[in-house]
Amino acid sequence: MPERYKPLRFSNAGMRGLKVSATLSLNDRVREMWETGQDVYHLGFGESRFPVHPKISEALKKNAHQRSYLPALGILELRETIARFYEQKFQLKVSPERVVVGPGSKSLLYALTLALGEEIILPRPSWVTYAPQAHLIGKPITWVPTFPEENFILNIDTLQECMAQSQQELGNPELLIINSPNNPTGTMMPPEKIEELADFAREQGLMVISDEIYALIAHGKIPHTSIAQYYPEGSIILGGLSKHMSLGGWRFGVAILPPGRAGKALRDALQTIASSIWSCVAAPIQYAAIVAYSNDPDIDEYITLCTRIHAIRTRYLYNTLVELGVPCVEPTGAFYVFPSFKKWEKALAARGVHNNEDLAIYLLDKYHLATLPGTAFNCASNSFCLRLSSSYIDAGTDEKATKLIEAYKANPNPTTFIDQHHPRLKEVAARLAEFVHELNQ
Ligand SMILES: Cc1ncc(COP(=O)(O)O)c(C=O)c1O
Repeated sequence: MPERYKPLRFSNAGMRGLKVSATLSLNDRVREMWETGQDVYHLGFGESRFPVHPKISEALKKNAHQRSYLPALGILELRETIARFYEQKFQLKVSPERVVVGPGSKSLLYALTLALGEEIILPRPSWVTYAPQAHLIGKPITWVPTFPEENFILNIDTLQECMAQSQQELGNPELLIINSPNNPTGTMMPPEKIEELADFAREQGLMVISDEIYALIAHGKIPHTSIAQYYPEGSIILGGLSKHMSLGGWRFGVAILPPGRAGKALRDALQTIASSIWSCVAAPIQYAAIVAYSNDPDIDEYITLCTRIHAIRTRYLYNTLVELGVPCVEPTGAFYVFPSFKKWEKALAARGVHNNEDLAIYLLDKYHLATLPGTAFNCASNSFCLRLSSSYIDAGTDEKATKLIEAYKANPNPTTFIDQHHPRLKEVAARLAEFVHELNQ
């Protein structure tokens, strides 16, 4: 009997328009290479790789017996603990009612995008997930370009121009998403720029979702500042344990809502969405998260240590690119660099490389370097931008990451640390040098 297949009818325009992303096809190619025994230097993963802190894994084990549904937006003890954490770490006065937890900040972002506004303003480039979420929900996007000459910082004049344009074409965009420290550029918004943006947002009545998932991975040059410090009534902070605690797979995210009536209304909306979709964050994870957010000095020290290591490794990638003459904005947070190879456009075209994806594939096929094309972050396809992440190389397993921590504690000198403990990162630098040498010929 032949198999009878009735093609699926997808429900809305968002689902019908879905394509397999460039990122996924690149990952498939990497997997194929791995399966055939080829060595790939993976600069594509944006995942912090350090082991689970023992106090947190202990707390999870102790709470494995917790099996009941919990309140949709989080248990009170956890929300109180998170409120104290934000006060101690970021000098923000937050009451526990303003704290909401969810299964990863990505889910909370989706719920917020669903709940708020009719149109969304997004900087370009920005993290891969924002645009597809808006697309799934069916909300139009107003794109605001940011420029390497301005460290990819949102420029208020450009923002205003783009908003005016979209008011003519679409309507009135009311929701802006910002992200500092930034994925994919690794840059941070300095406090004065945040203050300026806060004033503008207040004037325009914009609600701002401030994705601060990398807040504790600031390299030390620019202090992390939350827009909620200047514009509490119109800001929602997103955070979680995925980055500074390397707990992406635990799926734990936080949103800090505005005070007052706006916050209360949002809380009610999130309560409805959360209880209709995910019910609550897994009970054992909620209890373990209390320990993760407890301002415990050992855990604080661990966060600082991991951040310093991220900073050294990311800076090494940046220095390598700059020494090779590859234009790249200086990273000040997270673990990404975002160089552009556009100045070699002709040399690249001669090799059949005409856009960002071609470039990523070329580097993968010829040099076994896996990167992400700038297009994944909504950059123009001829910008020849790539995102390189330092998080995976030489730290692929718990054992390797633990060795790095021990080595850093024994000698934190960045040069020695890279030289003696990063054979693969050094090999990445050598391959990038070979590539640039090829283009220069
Ligand atoms: C900018 C940004 N926001 C949010 C997330 C996702 O965080 P979560 O694991 O809390 O969903 C990531 C992860 O890559 C990210 O880069």
